[in-house]
Amino acid sequence: MTSQTPATSAPATAENTVALSAAPERTEAAERVHTMFVEAFGYEPDGVWSAPGRVNIIGEHVDYQDGLCLPMAISHRCFAAAARTPTNLLRLRSAQEDQILEIDATELEPGAITGWPAYVAGVLWALRSHISGATTRGMDIMIDGQVPLGAGLSSSAALECAAAEAIESLLTLGTTPLQRVHAAITAETDFAGASTGGLDQSASVLSLSGHALFLDCRDFSTRLVPWDLASQDLALLITDTRAEHSHVDGQYTARRADSERAAQELGVQTLRDVEVEGEQELQERLAAIADETVRRRAHHVITEIQRVKAFDALLESGNVREHVAELGALLNASHDSLRDDYEVTVEALDTAVDAARAVGAHGARMTGGGFGGSTIALVEADQAQSVAQAIAAAFAEKGLDAPEFFLALPSEGAGQDR
Ligand code: GLA
Repeated sequence: MTSQTPATSAPATAENTVALSAAPERTEAAERVHTMFVEAFGYEPDGVWSAPGRVNIIGEHVDYQDGLCLPMAISHRCFAAAARTPTNLLRLRSAQEDQILEIDATELEPGAITGWPAYVAGVLWALRSHISGATTRGMDIMIDGQVPLGAGLSSSAALECAAAEAIESLLTLGTTPLQRVHAAITAETDFAGASTGGLDQSASVLSLSGHALFLDCRDFSTRLVPWDLASQDLALLITDTRAEHSHVDGQYTARRADSERAAQELGVQTLRDVEVEGEQELQERLAAIADETVRRRAHHVITEIQRVKAFDALLESGNVREHVAELGALLNASHDSLRDDYEVTVEALDTAVDAARAVGAHGARMTGGGFGGSTIALVEADQAQSVAQAIAAAFAEKGLDAPEFFLALPSEGAGQDR
């Protein structure tokens, strides 16, 4: 996608105090996209809708193996101002491009549209093909994406889910939030052709402020888990490493293929079905897998699902402060497994994690698909700045591009703004 604004903060350097940037204020951002719609199309939109990006707190590279994840929505959102029209045209405009793209809404076909418009058109296509009674009508949509691009914070899911909310309202389809999650997933996998596992769209639609979302990818059932770090003087620091994603799609697909092969060799439908007590029993089960690399891939997925269960159990049995050391240790173990067993980290991710741990973060890990993107660190609120500073210094020392920093405030899922 090329349509969304990059983060607005000045890049951090080791010399100056790093900026912890904030997302644009939601009401103002909604107002802005409303105004841009009027300027672009010459009349008032029917409404404004938005959906957030996400960080995954724990449960990485398990969604496509029916696993368990614990994401939360962040305060950066994608906004869509939209109106229904009496034509068959889908007219799309983004805040970052001058042209209006016109698509015949009656002839939407997977593969025919590329770039960011595919994520919007794909949602319309998915809702129409899967929801009975959805009519083919035209609409005008103005998009303003405020989720940093390429940061592994799910700017694509935010776009899809904002579009899904807008289309639901404009066509009064009567879909449930979960049906919109599935429409967004279908848009991404079947229409835009990016095979992902459903974590991002679930987080974007179903999250609630002050909470993390416990997501069971076997049936997409969810439970909200209190995750109010601020009241306990804690914070979750996001570091966008700005590392180039190289060959991301191929690597992601390769990891999925490895884990599918592992499940097959273990004789289970998915790796979620492997129930073992302890590392020794796990190693005995994994001995059935011939290839050493595939064995390590399975080891990651199975132990990561166990870590999510343990993390969730800690949150259920008390607040974050009470268990901060154990929660931090689980975050650390998750990253180490993604680095050593799943091999989806890169130098910038490991550097950010190591630097955060070295200056006292309770725990730190990469978040999202890996191969670049962002890390999270669970820190004392009054140390967020100094941890960021230490990460910036470590990047400067290694000659890596300066990272960007945000605080991850657990935010509201997709909805109507005005
Ligand atoms: C990407 C995908 C998700 C998930 C994560 C890894 O973000 O879009 O579906 O697989 O990677 O946990």
